[in-house]
Amino acid sequence: MCGIFGVVSSNAVTGTLLSGLQKLEYRGYDSAGLSVITNNNVIKRIRCSGKVSDLRSLVKKSNLTGRCGIAHTRWATHGVPSTKNSHPHSSGIISIVHNGIIENYDELKSKLKKQRYKFLSDTDSEVIAHLIHSFLSKKKTYFDAVVAALKTLKGSYALGILNEKNPDTLIAASHGSPLLLGISRNENFISSDVNAVLSKTKKYISMDDSEIAVLNKSEVNIFGLNGRKIKKPVSTSIQKGNSINKAGYNHYMQKEIYEQKNIIKNTINDKVGSTRILPNVFGPQSDSMLKSIKHIHFVACGTSFNAALVAKNWIEEVSNISCVAEIASEFRHRKVNVLKDTLYVAISQSGETADTIYSTKKAAALGYKKILSICNVPESSLTRLSDYTFLTHAGPEISVASTKAFTSQLISLLLLVCILSRSSGKKIEPTIVKQMKTLPKILTKVFSLEKEMQQIAKHFTNKHHTLFLGRGASYPIALEAALKLKEISYIHAEGYAAGELKHGPLALVDKDMPVIGLMPENNLVDQVLSNLAEVKARQGLVYIFTNKKLKFKRGDKTHLVSMPSCGHFIAPLVYVIPMQLLAYHVAVKKKTNIDQPRNLAKSVTVE
Ligand code: G6P
Repeated sequence: MCGIFGVVSSNAVTGTLLSGLQKLEYRGYDSAGLSVITNNNVIKRIRCSGKVSDLRSLVKKSNLTGRCGIAHTRWATHGVPSTKNSHPHSSGIISIVHNGIIENYDELKSKLKKQRYKFLSDTDSEVIAHLIHSFLSKKKTYFDAVVAALKTLKGSYALGILNEKNPDTLIAASHGSPLLLGISRNENFISSDVNAVLSKTKKYISMDDSEIAVLNKSEVNIFGLNGRKIKKPVSTSIQKGNSINKAGYNHYMQKEIYEQKNIIKNTINDKVGSTRILPNVFGPQSDSMLKSIKHIHFVACGTSFNAALVAKNWIEEVSNISCVAEIASEFRHRKVNVLKDTLYVAISQSGETADTIYSTKKAAALGYKKILSICNVPESSLTRLSDYTFLTHAGPEISVASTKAFTSQLISLLLLVCILSRSSGKKIEPTIVKQMKTLPKILTKVFSLEKEMQQIAKHFTNKHHTLFLGRGASYPIALEAALKLKEISYIHAEGYAAGELKHGPLALVDKDMPVIGLMPENNLVDQVLSNLAEVKARQGLVYIFTNKKLKFKRGDKTHLVSMPSCGHFIAPLVYVIPMQLLAYHVAVKKKTNIDQPRNLAKSVTVE
């Protein structure tokens, strides 16, 4: 899942390439590179392991200039992050950038080696450059050579291609990896996402599978692999493309944690009436569609999957709808039986996660009643595949560790829960609405716990493992808490359904194992308390987050964090925030790269 950017223009492109690439860095940040066709019609390439800022320094020293170029920021799949494995990859007059995975690269590599091609990297991508070159040497035209190469590839690709002999042309191709074309006057672009072109143009065309585009500075033409021209609509982005900054916070993650209160408040103000959710907030006629739903299948990855697990708890509690939440990478590869009147719901911050996209394409062919997506990015691949879309309006999330996307998904899902509760006859909607409206005040109190989290964080910096326990809707919050801690502080952390403790993880507990119990006051508190007693009996260090009034004896080795009182339905939104703050402050103390943790990327566009 890398970022690709390219431009062909009547002006010099190096600066544009670097600033476009910078906006795509969330897709991968272990190495970066660019190729430019210079004014003497030769391709010059600069690459490095490290970030776009490192590439920028190298480019600055080089005086590189030209009017057609491609750039890439990498998240390594094949081959370690290093200069030789950085894109662009070259073969004689050809230079390419690639996002995706070429599944038959080994077989192609052997064939190309027999034709005396020398491989200088460990990547799967390098075969593409040699393949195009080899078809060119068989006297094919440039376009035909690219098509022949694409037909030989198995796997997924978004590609930007340069050819020294066609210095005013940029070729792009896409199959199973997102790519769009930015359309402007006297310059045209290719980009992995629309944000990276917004400072130049709002007009864009999304590429679909098995399409190839030929761009010059004044024209963009799209073809199928059969060579036939395809007419595609030009969209106008509704996104603002403002420059994003940390607004005085030390990290994007910290800023995004603090943005949550307003995002939640805005969603409530926009979508919730005095006792009911406003009509059709999930799209035209969505209320009547939702009325007929008997089953729900949630599909998502990572943090978005944890949001789905919370929603499953809520929905089955308030309605007669049966609900399954499934990880997209599992769903996409298994046989799925779809019951009549099942709604498929994909949850994704980016709307570009490969497994979620593939699953949603699969769902479209499976006989679900409708496809609903809950997504933060308008105009993303996911929204284009959905019958109904609910935009979470959390604003761009930059930190790789997701925070505001999660709570904005939860509040959106709570709207869905209210609507679905109507057919059960339980009349629970006014109660949930009332609780939702208390959230902004309660969140102010939760944020006042930050100092305490900072203190507690000190206890974790020298720990190697942590367990988070919860029951009911707090179990997915325990999963999310563990995910946050491991992602940014590199402490091994697990979230467990508290009742599962004695089926295995209790064996890990000793005096060095912190165990955090998430215990909003509800009918499950006593059971979680018994589980934590089992931890204490084995010298484990216990931290309890609860709004129940509990008293412990002196020397009881239990750290109690008093949470503000909150209604049962909003508890997951309230309890996840101290978990985010705790993970953040542990990472601050461990001096990790909080916004761009090692080995990860914000948008996972490969399987
Ligand atoms: C990556 C991100 C996570 C995110 C997951 C799913 O792993 O680092 O923060 O939860 O992808 O992403 P999505 O955009 O589909 O919600």
